[in-house]
Amino acid sequence: MELTEVIKNRRSIRHFNNEKLSKETINKILTSGILAPSAKNRQPWNFIVIENSDLKKEIGDLLEKKTTDETNLTCEVIRECQALILVYGDIEHEIFDVESIGACIENMILEAYNLNVGSLWIGFILQIEEELKKKFKTDKKLIAAVALGYTNTNPKPRPRKTLEECTKWY
Ligand SMILES: Cc1cc2nc3c(=O)[nH]c(=O)nc-3n(C[C@H](O)[C@H](O)[C@H](O)COP(=O)(O)O)c2cc1C
Repeated sequence: MELTEVIKNRRSIRHFNNEKLSKETINKILTSGILAPSAKNRQPWNFIVIENSDLKKEIGDLLEKKTTDETNLTCEVIRECQALILVYGDIEHEIFDVESIGACIENMILEAYNLNVGSLWIGFILQIEEELKKKFKTDKKLIAAVALGYTNTNPKPRPRKTLEECTKWY
């Protein structure tokens, strides 16, 4: 697919079907992630890939315990996706490293779309950061999660500001 088409047509996907994702496809998505630029080329990203259904359910349920109306759907997405990627950071310089990991996640979700895989960038996962830290025995900083899977849905584009609204030229 052409890059501009990928950028334009990618959507956040919140319903996945039962089709399995191959390890090869997940690895392609992660590989595009780690090709992102990073401050001082520190490459501060680390991933935990969760395919196990019981574990995804446990994480979805954990989040549901802390849920608000806003996060409810996200819990279901976590249980329903084929792979949940927890994205952790080795954080030395907070802004630079978090920016770098944002670039990595963006590459991942664009590559996912390029491979016809639906994705959701999940920030609400931070609500269970402590619980996940204990579960996966890591000292790294949880930044986000990415849910992946095939979908039968085709969400409409969400509104965007116009270029004029967010740009000043001198
Ligand atoms: C940092 C970040 C965190 C997000 N967290 C969540 C989340 O926890 N749950 C969710 O349903 N969507 C989440 N989203 C998806 C946004 O809601 C979505 O990108 C936005 O509404 C625009 O829609 P689009 O991705 O389809 O263009 C997140 C997106 C970003 C960039």
